Amino acid sequence: MRLEKITVVGAGVMGRGIAYVLSLAGFHTTMVDVSLEQLRLAKNEITQLAEHAVQRNKISSEAKDNVVENIHLSVELEAVAKETDFVIEAVPERRDLKQQVLATVDAHARAEVIIASNTSTISPTELGSYTKRPQQVAAMHFFNPVHRMKLVEIVKGLETSEETVNVIREVAHQIGKETVEVKEFPGFVTSRISAMVGNEAFYMLQEGVATAEDIDKAIRLGLNYPMGPLELGDLVGLDTRLHNLKYLHETLGEKFRPAPLLEQYVKAGRLGRKTGRGVYDYSSDGE
Ligand SMILES: NC(=O)c1ccc[n+]([C@@H]2O[C@H](COP(=O)([O-])OP(=O)(O)OC[C@H]3O[C@@H](n4cnc5c(N)ncnc54)[C@H](O)[C@@H]3O)[C@@H](O)[C@H]2O)c1
Repeated sequence: MRLEKITVVGAGVMGRGIAYVLSLAGFHTTMVDVSLEQLRLAKNEITQLAEHAVQRNKISSEAKDNVVENIHLSVELEAVAKETDFVIEAVPERRDLKQQVLATVDAHARAEVIIASNTSTISPTELGSYTKRPQQVAAMHFFNPVHRMKLVEIVKGLETSEETVNVIREVAHQIGKETVEVKEFPGFVTSRISAMVGNEAFYMLQEGVATAEDIDKAIRLGLNYPMGPLELGDLVGLDTRLHNLKYLHETLGEKFRPAPLLEQYVKAGRLGRKTGRGVYDYSSDGE
């Protein structure tokens, strides 16, 4: 199957990273969002990523120009879906939103178009049921920051065809990613472990076991994780982390009950880097 035009629905933390790697690999990439402001920010961030990559001799300046040229923006999902060859959904981890987006794409995209979801936790079988093409729906789970993280987790739903998995694997390879295939189970492999570790760190912070800095330092230097769980939570977005935990709590039980302190941070709008403040403060002097 020859793919040229790829649509990324949701231009947030993940959507913009995914759009960057797709455009860098030469795909005609359209980001669709309900917010014009998010689209504008996403385009700026992608341009900056490409400029930094040129400065660090990771890509040529022609490649940067191609990135900028390959990125298109729209708030009209129906119109974009009609023209697309492949869709990656990256809207917030809420069933109602995912259902609305998948049903709209399904109603307007050509019959053969595959819909991949960047969901961290939701069953691809359930996502497939929001469409009339469940054999062409699967999870294609990227990691943050997308341009640096090598892995894509591919998760098949009950009806997902082998052909769909093959096409998703091929797209992942074309953008320089390694893939693993995971059986459908809440949280797949990575989200389940990451949510558990991140939640435990929040319980420790709440219990006053150590400062946030020392919890992160202990895990980085003592367990050799590249990032501490609290700084990772700020990068991921504490609202996204809380959504994932609530889902895992519902499906896998008590061990995933979200830490009350995490719930409080989200209520206060301390969502992490994207709002300038989470566990850490990113507002004034940056890092
Ligand atoms: N943040 C992470 O580290 C991470 C990692 C892996 C997977 N994920 C998953 O990726 C998905 C997106 O997460 P995120 O962190 O990028 O979220 P985000 O909140 O940063 O961005 C979501 C974007 O979707 C847009 N949106 C909302 N409703 C929409 C609609 N109906 N149509 C089009 N756009 C819409 C929002 O305006 C926003 O720009 C979630 O399913 C999340 O679980 C996140």
